[in-house]
Amino acid sequence: MKSVTVSAPGKLMLLGEHAVVYGYPCIVTAVNQRLRLTATIHDEPLLIINAPDMRIVDYKRPITMLGETETPKEVQFVAIAVKNFNEKYGLKTGISIATASEFKSTIGFGSSSASTVCVIKALSELFGKELTNKEIFDLSYKTVLDIQKKGSGFDVASAIFGKTLYFVTGGKTILPLAIDNFPIVVGYSGVKADTVRLINKVSLLFNENPKLVKDIYKDIGKIVEKAKTALEEKNCQVLGELMNLNQIHLAKLGVSTRKLDVMIHASRDAGAYGAKLSGAGGGDCMFAFAPENRMKIIEKAIKKSGGEIMQITSNAQGVRVEK
Ligand code: PMV
Repeated sequence: MKSVTVSAPGKLMLLGEHAVVYGYPCIVTAVNQRLRLTATIHDEPLLIINAPDMRIVDYKRPITMLGETETPKEVQFVAIAVKNFNEKYGLKTGISIATASEFKSTIGFGSSSASTVCVIKALSELFGKELTNKEIFDLSYKTVLDIQKKGSGFDVASAIFGKTLYFVTGGKTILPLAIDNFPIVVGYSGVKADTVRLINKVSLLFNENPKLVKDIYKDIGKIVEKAKTALEEKNCQVLGELMNLNQIHLAKLGVSTRKLDVMIHASRDAGAYGAKLSGAGGGDCMFAFAPENRMKIIEKAIKKSGGEIMQITSNAQGVRVEK
């Protein structure tokens, strides 16, 4: 049976989270841990999903009925991506999909968006649609919004384009930055963040105090612009200071946690240029930007404050077909 394997990278939000949901830019880097997906054509008009990492074995649904009843959380991004591809391009066969990830779905590296992007890329390849990256983005972002209702799409863009992106809400700008890998230390807080809950929390704060939150978003927007230049000019000190400022704003939005704060302060004390949380907050990861010769000491400091080190490199390749 005809089949194709594709892979997409996980991501790490560097600066600009939350404000990016409301029209401001962010900077995101693709990491070198990937999600792999194999799609195989078969005769019955069914979608079959196997995702051992999510404990899913032989989930089966008729393709025409996808999304009609409640879809289990573990398979919804794959199932709704297949539904959306079918509605747009018409699948004339059944599809089996198997996924395997190098990173856990609990750490906030974007397994949902990576699997969505992989489905659209794999089906595009299998059925000779030759979709452009922008077309893959539009269908994948629609899938994420169908499920989550909210989100900027930065994670979808990162899985497709890879590298380090300057990104504006909904893909209005998707600009790969001409930079090399830069050294970061990533620490997982041990708590899985619920992105939608945190977006809602910030939007409640906005309703209570729109001026405060608008000013914070505006400032975050300026920080991201300056950080883009600092990254391009390899101005480490300035980039570190901008990360620290961004973290102050995130704390004001109420999305940092005690555990993240402790890990962030420990890495600054150990010599990082800057450190902040990454993503929605409430858990998941923090990262420190550091001189190469301080990396090990910072890793130790993060571990000592209860964090788990994620060994990653930045600026990874976007979605690709595997041989
Ligand atoms: O929780 P994460 O890593 O998916 O990051 C969410 C970042 C937000 O800006 C809060 C939401 C978004 O879609 O941009």
